[in-house]
Parts: sequence; structure tokens; C-alpha cells
Amino acid sequence: MRLIRLTAALLLLVLSAGCGKEPGQGEADQDDPVAQGRKLFMANGCNLCHGPEGRGDGPVARSLSPKPRDFADLSAYKRGPGLEQLEETIQKGLHTGQGIMPAFPNIPSEDRRRLALFIQSLQPK
Ligand code: HEC
Repeated sequence: MRLIRLTAALLLLVLSAGCGKEPGQGEADQDDPVAQGRKLFMANGCNLCHGPEGRGDGPVARSLSPKPRDFADLSAYKRGPGLEQLEETIQKGLHTGQGIMPAFPNIPSEDRRRLALFIQSLQPK
């Protein structure tokens, strides 16, 4: 009996968590390349090195040299902070020392664009 009640409570929890999403949130994301880019940033593990906000403070960053730097610091970019330069870095990677920015050739170009737009959203206007 107790187990059933517990299961019912859990089920309710799961269901209400599912309903907790804003209605139409998925659709809003579809029109928002920056929000999509943020998701791709997490899904592809960029955050592990770059940190969730692109500050260069991900958990892997400390073992890299040179470290990934702050995306908000425009003077820190080696290839460049422009949209096309960002896309090229994602596609080809960047290897200037032992610290390697890996290439992501399997990320499709439209997703590279979304990632680049997300990174640009972290840059000063
Ligand atoms: C294994 C750690 C690691 C991962 C994962 C990683 N990066 Fe990097 N990234 C670096 C390092 C290290 C640098 C700096 C390289 C250097 O200075 O030579 C860098 C540099 C960059 C730069 C700056 C390029 C420039 O002009 O200086 C961009 C943009 C970037 N990464 C985007 C991304 C994106 C987007 C992803 C995910 C698709 C990603 N990175 C995943 C380590 C990583």
C-alpha cells in the first residue's frame, strides 16, 4: 500500500515537472538562435572547457595551456570574434600551443552559426 502511494506521488511529481514548462517554450526556442546555440554549447561539451557562460572557467580549463579565455574579452581572440571567424574556429579548431581547441567538423553549418551567435551574445555590444 505504501509503495503504491509512493509510486503515485512520484508519478505526480514527474507529471507536474513535465507541465512546469512554459507553454510554447519549445516553439520560442525555434525562433531564437541564441537559445538554441546555448543548448548546443552544453550538448557538445563546449561548456566543459569554456564554462557555461564562456568565461573560460569550465572544469577542464585548469588542465589546459593556453586556457580558453573569456569570450567577453574581445582582445583575447586569436582567430577573431566575428561570426565567420567563430564558425571557422568551431569547424577547424584552433591549435596555437598545447591547449587545443578541438575541431567539430560534424556540427552542421546551421548549428555552427547558432553556436557563433550564442558566443556573440556573450560579447560586449
Ligand atoms: C577540450 C576543451 C575544449 C572544448 C571541448 C572546446 N573548446 Fe573552444 N577552446 C579551447 C581552448 C584551449 C581554446 C584556446 C586555444 C588557443 O588559445 O590556442 C579555445 C578557443 C575557442 C574559441 C576562441 C577562438 C579564438 O579566436 O581565439 C572559440 C570561439 C571556441 N573555442 C569555441 C568553442 C565551441 C563553440 C566549442 C563547442 C562546440 C568549444 N570551443 C569546445 C578548448 C576547448
